[in-house]
Amino acid sequence: MERTFLMVKPDGVQRGLIGEIVSRFERKGLKLVAAKFMRITPEIAERHYAEHIGQPFYPPLVAFVTSSPVFAMVWQGDNVIGLTRAMIGKTNALDAAPGTIRSDYAIHTNFNLIHGSDSVESAKREIDIFFKPEELQDYTQSI
Ligand code: CMP
Repeated sequence: MERTFLMVKPDGVQRGLIGEIVSRFERKGLKLVAAKFMRITPEIAERHYAEHIGQPFYPPLVAFVTSSPVFAMVWQGDNVIGLTRAMIGKTNALDAAPGTIRSDYAIHTNFNLIHGSDSVESAKREIDIFFKPEELQDYTQSI
């Protein structure tokens, strides 16, 4: 069973889109196994976005994600990484397909509402940064 790390970023929280975004994944039939409304520290931001260190957008990205709370989540399901990335859409809202979260609600790459893991390896790494193993719920989704 695959897991992914998804995070409504400060712009999504401030625009009141947590419910809309969570609802899309719920209606898809994916399973929520962990969630946390939290403020990212600079240390967490640096670990999470390590692959982008050195990019021109890295300093403003860290400043932004640490500026106000985020809604961090772990979702589970068959092919959940690919499915959620398809539902989120491309990084730049201009390239995001109609019907995706970023196409429907975002305008700018720097304020693209949500982060989603891009591989099994990054999902595991990102889940470990944000959640302790005991914070992931184990339950049966019967419907
Ligand atoms: P996210 O999926 O959180 O991963 C890195 C973030 O950096 C990305 O979403 C964007 O919000 C931001 N970003 C800004 N400019 C770029 C860029 N040129 N390429 C990738 N990410 C960018």
